[in-house]
Amino acid sequence: MVGADRDKAAAAVKPYTTVWKPQPGPQTDLLTCPASITEIFFGGARGGGKTDGVLGEWIAHASRYGKDAIGLMIRRELTQLVETIERSRVLYTPLGARYTTAEKMWAFPNGARLRFAYLERDADADAYQGHSYSRTSRRPAHSQASGQSCGCRPHCGPAPACQSVW
Ligand SMILES: Nc1ncnc2c1ncn2[C@@H]1O[C@H](COP(=O)(O)OP(=O)(O)O)[C@@H](O)[C@H]1O
Ligand SMILES: [Mg+2]
Repeated sequence: MVGADRDKAAAAVKPYTTVWKPQPGPQTDLLTCPASITEIFFGGARGGGKTDGVLGEWIAHASRYGKDAIGLMIRRELTQLVETIERSRVLYTPLGARYTTAEKMWAFPNGARLRFAYLERDADADAYQGHSYSRTSRRPAHSQASGQSCGCRPHCGPAPACQSVW
């Protein structure tokens, strides 16, 4: 995409600060993380803002990279995704993004796409082999087992792929 087209596409997603602002601390660190960083662990107690940080950072990423922004948020079970999806409705609907329940995917006006997935078994990951994402985030296995929130590993790709574990 040439520069002018990219600028136009980016304008199609309102600046993320109109619907979401990072809190001081880890969320601001996440948003200001240099593009050269490809893995981020976002830890902390439940309620510390990890999920919101990842959802909010996605808006900034989508605004910047348009159709090159392709994200995947993974949880072990669909039930674990429900609250995240509900929060994403609050944040993304005002931006003109459309959610498709069957695909569990948000499509933004500038072409950015964010998909939610649950991988109950390791074999479920096969369905995503060969896909290329500019952002992935997942909850680490040990925090699932202990019930503790642990961190977030955003993964950065062609538009800087960043992986977060929350
Ligand atoms: N930057 C923010 N702006 C507005 N609300 C926020 C922000 N960060 C977190 N919250 C709210 O605080 C609560 C806890 O945040 P959450 O991301 O769910 O924490 P965690 O995932 O670490 O358990 C949620 O209700 C969330 O919407
Ligand atoms: Mg959370």
